[in-house]
Formats: sequence, structure tokens, C-alpha cells
Amino acid sequence: MQDSWGRTIEYVRLSLTEACNFCCPYCRPAEITPHSQINLLSPDEWMVVLGAFHKMGVRALRLTGGEPLLYPHFEELLVKVKATNWFEDISMTTNGSLLASRAKELRQLGLNRVNISLDSLEEQTFAECVGKSGQLDTVLSGIRAAIEAKFRSVKINTVLSRGWSDAEVASLLKYVGSWPVIWRFIEYMPFQGDAFHGPTFDEWKAQLERVSGGVLEEVHSVYGFGPASYYRLPSGVVIGFIFSMSHNYCDSCNRVRLTSDGRLRLCLLRDDESDLVSLVRQGYTSEQLLEHIEQALQRKQERHDGISMDTPERPMWRIGG
Ligand code: GTP
Ligand code: 5AD
Ligand code: SF4
Repeated sequence: MQDSWGRTIEYVRLSLTEACNFCCPYCRPAEITPHSQINLLSPDEWMVVLGAFHKMGVRALRLTGGEPLLYPHFEELLVKVKATNWFEDISMTTNGSLLASRAKELRQLGLNRVNISLDSLEEQTFAECVGKSGQLDTVLSGIRAAIEAKFRSVKINTVLSRGWSDAEVASLLKYVGSWPVIWRFIEYMPFQGDAFHGPTFDEWKAQLERVSGGVLEEVHSVYGFGPASYYRLPSGVVIGFIFSMSHNYCDSCNRVRLTSDGRLRLCLLRDDESDLVSLVRQGYTSEQLLEHIEQALQRKQERHDGISMDTPERPMWRIGG
């Protein structure tokens, strides 16, 4: 299915719950009371929605949140989706805190890939990043379990923050090269009514080149459906960047989002949504829903406004990243 700008929509990001056991300031500031959702969609309701996207030609499904592993029926939904063979790729983005004991089974049930957030490797800074102390080892165990479970890929997402010293970057690069993961660096997106405050990809790339003593070369062959661009460090290690603020890649947008309250959201950074759950609860079939989705898709805008964007009404944790 193509949108009105000729882009093929083949990737759905499904946020299963707004609940999260972390409180990262750039996503869910502490002053927002964690929302405990009472009206989550059931696995069967999600299957009606996903059936429509399958009919539309979507090939990849990513389960997000909040923290998706807090959705009470995660494994049940995974089994149902896997049994259909609708999607060639089923992945999850998680904070990693609940992964250690579940990674192996999730892999066996058919989850193909996991992306795990990790903003610091230093205990105190990590505690500030997630709003909770004592969690770094838990997340590192989750990452280890994901590596051992042999997912098709394990990616680490690090949101860039200003003020990394060259020494910190040098020590980070040692980890980046020694784990069998693909490390990605994400430009901060201002969801808190604040302004974009970088660092930008260009600044970060220049610092990486200075610290690693060579040039980063772009590569074009890293598996995934998302917006990242990948580069080879002088050491040969490939890393990724998601630079949606300073360099817009909306031209090649291939995705839409489903929020945990059952709404189709056409773009992360724009508040254009349409209600699907009410239709499912009125008894719409996947075919009937498909018509509705195809109409809504024609409203998908060409691009977002980048650094000058207005803060979306829904914060990141309510959209699913
Ligand atoms: P892969 O299939 O592994 O490439 O996954 P992904 O990069 O799509 O998934 P992930 O959940 O790890 O997202 C990484 C970052 O990319 C998050 O910060 C997302 O918010 C951001 N991102 C994903 N899609 C979009 C998008 O359409 N627009 C913008 N601005 N950011 C996006
Ligand atoms: N800017 C950039 N990335 C963000 N994420 C959450 N909030 C923001 C933000 N404001 C990242 C998380 C997670 C991914 C889904 O989105 O770190 O890895
Ligand atoms: Fe696509 Fe919107 Fe994301 Fe741009 S911001 S890449 S148009 S979903």
C-alpha cells in the first residue's frame, strides 16, 4: 500500500502499553504519574487490527511501549502473530529490564530481533537516565540474555546527550566494538515542550572521528526496517545513527504507529490519529478495518518540521517511540 506521496508502508510499530518501570527524563519525566492503563486491547483485538495491516502489505511488526514486556499478554500475542506467518520480521524495542528471564523463550516463540535502550554504562549516570538506581546490571543481564538467545540482531539504542568528553567517547567505543550488537546513536527529539538541544549527528560524527582517528564510512547493508543510517568506524565496527532532527529522512518513511489505546498514528511527530479500537469493538473485521486504514493513510503528511517542530501533544511514552 502506498501513501499519497508514493511511499510504501510496510512497517507497523505497535505500542502495547503505556506502562513503564523506568522514568527517562526525555520520554516520561518523573512529574508525570505513571499511567496504569485499564483498557488495553486484548490479543484477539490486536489480531483483527494486525490482520488489516497484513492485507495492506505490511511486512514488519515491531512491538513497543512504554515497556512492552509489561503488557500482560505479550507471549500470548506473540504466539498468535507468529502462527499466522503474516510478517517476515517481528521485533521488539525494550528497556531491557525484564529481558534476562524471558529472552530465550521469546526467541523460541518467534521474536526475531530486539532493540534495547542503554544511555550510559556508568551506574550513577544510568540511574539518572532511567530515574531509578540499581538497574544497570539488570539491563546488562538482559542484553547478555538477548545475545545468548541468538536473535537475528540485537541493537543498542543510545540517545545522544551533550557534553560527552573525548575520554567518555573513547571508553564507550571499547564496548561498542566488543559486544556482538549493533550500536545506534539517536538524536534527542524534543517531546517535553523544550527546544532541540543536540548534539547533532554532524557534531557527534566529528567527535567520533577525532577520537577514533579516522573517517566514518557509510554502509548500506544492515538489516532492519527503521530509519537508521549505518557507518563503519576506522576499527571496522559498524554503528548506526538516527538523526531525525538535523537530517530529515521522511522521503523514505515506510511506517505507521499503533498506540496502546488502539489508535492509528500516521507519524511520530504529528498528532494525526484515528481511532481503530472502537471499530474493532463494534465488530469490524480486518477487511472492513482495512478500508478505514487506507483512507486514513491518505492523510499521512509528507514530512515533519524537524528542529522547528511543535511539541506533539502526546509525549513519547504515549506514542511508543
Ligand atoms: P530497526 O528495524 O531495527 O531499524 O528498528 P527501528 O530503528 O525502527 O526501531 P527502534 O524502536 O529501535 O527505534 C529507534 C529510534 O528511531 C527511536 O528513537 C524511534 O523513536 C526512532 N524512530 C523510529 N521511527 C521513526 C520515525 O518514523 N520518525 C522519527 N523521527 N523517529 C523514528
Ligand atoms: N528522543 C530520542 N529518542 C528517544 N527515545 C525515547 N524518547 C526519546 C527522545 N525524546 C528512544 C528510547 C528508545 C527508543 C524507542 O526511543 O531510547 O530506545
Ligand atoms: Fe515518517 Fe513522520 Fe517519521 Fe518523518 S517523522 S519519518 S514522515 S513518521
